[in-house]
Amino acid sequence: MALQDRINEAVAFIQPQLSEVPDYAIVLGSGLSGLAELVDVQVIVDYKDIPYFKTSGAPGHVGRLLFGHVGGKSVACMQGRLHFYEGNKPEDTVFPLQVLNALGAQTLVVTNAAGGINLGFEVGDIMLITDHINFTGAHPLTIGDEQGLHDFLDMTYTYSRNLQDVARQVAVDQGLNLREGVYLGVRGPSFETPAEIRAFRVWGADAVGMSTVFEVLAANLAGMQILGFSLITNMAAGVLDQPLSGEEVIETAAFAAGKMQKLVLGVLAAL
Ligand code: HPA
Repeated sequence: MALQDRINEAVAFIQPQLSEVPDYAIVLGSGLSGLAELVDVQVIVDYKDIPYFKTSGAPGHVGRLLFGHVGGKSVACMQGRLHFYEGNKPEDTVFPLQVLNALGAQTLVVTNAAGGINLGFEVGDIMLITDHINFTGAHPLTIGDEQGLHDFLDMTYTYSRNLQDVARQVAVDQGLNLREGVYLGVRGPSFETPAEIRAFRVWGADAVGMSTVFEVLAANLAGMQILGFSLITNMAAGVLDQPLSGEEVIETAAFAAGKMQKLVLGVLAAL
């Protein structure tokens, strides 16, 4: 079935349950599903009940949409995202976002857990994403297919400068030492080698993770305003002389989630 028909079917399932248009789509990263506590929830829809939604099996991810309010704004929160490393096709990972956009969301606030490449970062820091490098070797969009891409997609101003300014100001107000930099997206599911991390640092990457870039590409095609934050859950491979683990990522994310929660709430309230 054509993409637009699948989107319409998912929208037709969700829309009658809503009393309001969700203006903001929020994606909660690994271990950050606690951010959902921010939402004054009105409606919960499980991915498994929505036509054509794949379910998320990644650690630290639930798998449902929360509709409600954060900071006085009408939001749809993806509690659990779909990853490429779970065997999803790149285009499948962005379907939920395309549905939220069709429901009316014009702004994407995306969060993730990431490894710190920038040697000035510390575990527990939050990084404002100013740009990204898609090193997954894949892409969720294809020119001329059903997604409506008919020319090469411009990526120059992908991360909204206006939203970045708001985030910086909110961080100052909160006394938060907000880092900023370039997020490099890899496919996973292995962590990187120390040699890869050294190479990524030379390329100008500040943090590395296994998500976000596909969602941002699809959101940019949809004309959405995009704001992204990475929680530095660990220093990337080889920075410290110790192995990495997924457990560490989830534990640190849970530990530092409060800061991210406060920042996202502050930004939404300020918009
Ligand atoms: N590498 C890739 N993805 C990640 C990392 C990392 O070090 N930490 C959290 N997600």
